[in-house]
Amino acid sequence: MTKKVRKAVFPVGGLGTRFLPATKAMPKEMLPVVDKPLIQYAVEEARAAGIEQFIFVTGRGKGALEDHFDHSYELEDTLRAKNKAEFLDGIHSWLPTMGEVVYTRQMQPNGLGHAVQCARHIVGDEPFAVLLADDLILSKTAVLKQMVDAHAEVGGNVIAVMEVPHEHTKRYGVLTPGKQSGKTIEVKGLVEKPDPSVAPSNYAVIGRYILDASVFAELDHVGKGAGGEIQLTDGLARMIGKVPFHGFSFEGTRFDCGDKIGFLHANMAFALDRADIRKEFADVLRQVAGTL
Ligand code: G1P
Repeated sequence: MTKKVRKAVFPVGGLGTRFLPATKAMPKEMLPVVDKPLIQYAVEEARAAGIEQFIFVTGRGKGALEDHFDHSYELEDTLRAKNKAEFLDGIHSWLPTMGEVVYTRQMQPNGLGHAVQCARHIVGDEPFAVLLADDLILSKTAVLKQMVDAHAEVGGNVIAVMEVPHEHTKRYGVLTPGKQSGKTIEVKGLVEKPDPSVAPSNYAVIGRYILDASVFAELDHVGKGAGGEIQLTDGLARMIGKVPFHGFSFEGTRFDCGDKIGFLHANMAFALDRADIRKEFADVLRQVAGTL
């Protein structure tokens, strides 16, 4: 029997340089897709997967994230006084309950592996999830839920993967795929951001992971990798052959919201998925398309 996945880590310490000036004074995870910040999509996805504790690895200037997951007394008072119950519910229904959210700081920008390491004492010795908020996925069933279900079968590490154009391997962790069974693919090798000329496949790692706690000990042995940073991928590569290790081809459409075009695309796709604005927005899109 595999242990239940109860905790999720959200590395949110990144600087968001690709979105300057928007991210000069605002965390990139607060960028809204339609009317909801990226981080809230990620937290809601984790909740839908049965996660009970949400661990944010933050950094300087990320206070807005903590405020977002807290009460806002002035706003709530005003909404109450004006009888705006619908809006009040809209900001209450997803608020975490006491102690569900834990914050810790990544004190140096040393990479994703280092950010995950910062959560080691909060996670302890149990399987946990990692979600990267700028990978936003539109799906019927929350992707992390799909992965938790797969993890209950196979255990070990389960990481989200998708096929990408070969020339894009330099943007991702890339795996050497082994035997495939349904949606799971055995991971035989892993390398961070390989040049297309040496990439072992076009199966890219997407920002959803369920990891065995032994990753923390492995990360202790990882030095600076791609981009001069401590890469999670390098820690994971050390686990191949030690724990069951699978890629998971999720159902859903993934948008790279760390990239301007991906972010704009996500806004369109999520707007068209919303019953309340779909029709009106589709008209706008048709108008715009007519001017191209
Ligand atoms: C990170 C990981 C990479 C993964 C990617 C998915 O890279 O290091 O392995 O493929 O997320 O979005 P980053 O996008 O932070 O450079």
